[in-house]
Amino acid sequence: MKQKKTGSTFFRCSVCGYSQPRWLGRCPACGEWNSFEETAEPADTGKAFSGEPARAVPLSAVEAGSGIRMATGIRELDVVLGGGAMRRSAVLFGGEPGIGKSTLLLQAAASASMPDKKDGASRILYVSGEESPGQIKSRAERLSTDSGKIELLCTYLLADINKALDEINPAFVIIDSIQTIFSPQAGTVPGTINQLKFCAQELISWVKERDAVLFLVAHVTKDGSIAGPKTLEHMVDTVISFERSGDDVRFLRAYKNRFGSVDELGIFQMTEKGLVTVEDPSSIFITRREDRLPPGIAVAPVFEGSRVFLVEIQALTVSAKSSVTRVFSDKIESARVSRIAAVLEKRAGVQFSDQDIYVNVAGGVRLTESAVDLALAAALYSARTDISVPEATSFIGEISLAGEVRPVSKLKQRIKAAESLGFSRIAAPEKAESCIEIKNIKDMIKMLIEKADIKHG
Ligand code: TYD
Ligand code: MG
Repeated sequence: MKQKKTGSTFFRCSVCGYSQPRWLGRCPACGEWNSFEETAEPADTGKAFSGEPARAVPLSAVEAGSGIRMATGIRELDVVLGGGAMRRSAVLFGGEPGIGKSTLLLQAAASASMPDKKDGASRILYVSGEESPGQIKSRAERLSTDSGKIELLCTYLLADINKALDEINPAFVIIDSIQTIFSPQAGTVPGTINQLKFCAQELISWVKERDAVLFLVAHVTKDGSIAGPKTLEHMVDTVISFERSGDDVRFLRAYKNRFGSVDELGIFQMTEKGLVTVEDPSSIFITRREDRLPPGIAVAPVFEGSRVFLVEIQALTVSAKSSVTRVFSDKIESARVSRIAAVLEKRAGVQFSDQDIYVNVAGGVRLTESAVDLALAAALYSARTDISVPEATSFIGEISLAGEVRPVSKLKQRIKAAESLGFSRIAAPEKAESCIEIKNIKDMIKMLIEKADIKHG
């Protein structure tokens, strides 16, 4: 066993990367024996923070600035980021394998419009630790992207990346994925949390110091556990994530954003030409039908961030097979479905207590707004009675336990969205043009029966 003297050198655990000035027989961080090795500098090199020492300034003397943003050229991505990616910021981009992260970032790299950095540089570096240059080239060809501006580096070694960063001095850096990047300075085992943190910190330091934008791709497992990448969330400025909705629709959301809201939803469709922005989300969330609507379907305008679109709520009720009835609904909280069914039963005498209830939302969007209560009530009532909702009708309103329909936020925008898509009859708790005023759940039922194309006895 080698006992080392202390001095200007450091000792680092080769398993977890823990470092300290003295040699130890057992690592206090990971418990490994005999794992300490002598190195020249501590794990936290602190080199990114070299230069002028920081000095406090009076807040009143600071000029407000919105910062310089880089448009990725992909509208949905720019909106979710808060109006493009902020310079000197790091974005963690999570999603399960195969969902389209590499595709989106290659498209972003090709379409990004880079305001020149302070030093005039505007190059783009795409680092892949997972794929070969040939694979990336064939993806770029498939996407018909203009790859002229993109410098490609296929490596998993942090040292290679650092070298390329200094040589190329890019304004936009993509690391695909951070889980594949390795530095011997952070231990000999690849893929540890310590590797992840160490490599991410080095890269983040570089972009902060050099006025660039960094995207770190992180694979997240199917059950949504991001145990590894989660530890990076506090180190980055923005965390965005891709979710699957149906086969080819992808939702992009921000979970943390120092430079924008986290309410915006980006919607894409995966096509054979890559990810395409969905211009009119209602087109994927409502089904156009030639004939009368089947029973159990009602449409509502909903807000996601600053955007309103129409969604179709579908309900089905069947006699319960056992004495315990159940609600199957994963796009609208089951408790909300049960509550609306209970209100319909108590305030309008429509029996649900012996029924199993199934609720779905076309397109797979998850609805949390209480403004969809009235549409949900209409879908449930229609499903239970077989009376179809009349054509071109949409519903807006929250429902109280007493069965009253309450006003909701941004009513005017919702009405406008519904009208623009040809929903000329709008059931809402307000008297306005093109609205049928619905004060309570009985009004809604009355309207459904009166306007129904085919009346049931
Ligand atoms: P990819 O971007 O490699 O996913 P990730 O980086 O998140 O693992 O996307 C992989 C899937 O996307 C793959 O199954 C093929 C599909 N795809 C298309 O459908 N169209 C395309 O134009 C491209 C490039 C990929
Ligand atoms: Mg990939």
